[in-house]
Amino acid sequence: MTLDEFLSACRQLAADAPAAIAVAQSPAEFADVRTQLVGRKHGRLADLMAQLTTLDAEHRRDAGRAVNDVKAAIEQLLAEREAAVAAASRTTDALDLTMPSRARWQGSLHPVTLVIDEICEIFRELGFTIALGPEAETEFYNFGALNFPPDHPAMELHDTLYLGKDTLLRTHTSPVQVRTLQQYAPPVRVLAPGNVYRRDFFDATHAPSFMQLEGLAVDEGISFADLKATLGEFARRFYGGARRVRFGPSYFPFVEPGAQMDVEVDLGDGKGTRWVEILGCGMVHPNVLEAAGLDSERYTGWAFGMGPARIAMSRHDIPDIRLLYDSDVRFLEQFAR
Ligand code: DAH
Repeated sequence: MTLDEFLSACRQLAADAPAAIAVAQSPAEFADVRTQLVGRKHGRLADLMAQLTTLDAEHRRDAGRAVNDVKAAIEQLLAEREAAVAAASRTTDALDLTMPSRARWQGSLHPVTLVIDEICEIFRELGFTIALGPEAETEFYNFGALNFPPDHPAMELHDTLYLGKDTLLRTHTSPVQVRTLQQYAPPVRVLAPGNVYRRDFFDATHAPSFMQLEGLAVDEGISFADLKATLGEFARRFYGGARRVRFGPSYFPFVEPGAQMDVEVDLGDGKGTRWVEILGCGMVHPNVLEAAGLDSERYTGWAFGMGPARIAMSRHDIPDIRLLYDSDVRFLEQFAR
């Protein structure tokens, strides 16, 4: 090889290198182009070096300098391109681990739903199953079969939302008692959650529509002692600890005797314990058993009804029932579980 041929081969390599380097992106592509251009064994530069020995001795010095210059130029191009690619990837998809993360949005169940689920679970453990009834009820199931006298004030138009002559939005879940007893033979142990409706205005303690939970146990030989034991056990499981409960007389046409149950609660606000009424209950009135087609001489039972919104309010010391219906997430998320 002559010196001129050698020098022109050097220029050719220097001219080809920028285009080959400019397309490299990934580490693998950089390794490839580096091997191809300046690789020790089979790169184009190595091929040129191998030609050095074929030159006349007096030309080797110039040729050596030329080949070294080409090598330095290629190395510089590679380094610049690698730095540029790295800088570009840092600004596009690289992780910036110093940036504070944004909290992931997590929904949760409403505090009233949580209360209902917990109560259903406790009564499930006590042997109860869930029963449901329609929200559009007849006067018979909502009132008549529950031993309301025909002129009872609860049946007035201003207290109840009538859909037609004989159909109304149920004012309580107690009609599910009658429907269940008509459908299933004793022993019956059911819990009936559901919406009820009253012709009430929203205020701090009333909502025109709210949830109730009805309970019913009917069999031969059921007594008030069963009621006290079961509801006391429920209070201990729901509120925790050796919870005290007390019963006081109360009136509902569908129970005799009728009672209310209070639970002693400590809200942990430093104000000590207080008694909170959480449900109405009593022994199922014989007229109700008879209306459902049962022999009231043979069967007895007890029932209760409670409002889970009221229970959520007492549990969290919520002063106004409307807070539970406003759907203000800033308020509701305090009770997320
Ligand atoms: N139905 C009653 C109400 O809406 C609540 C109630 C009280 C249900 C006593 C019962 C009961 O089963 O025994 O106010």
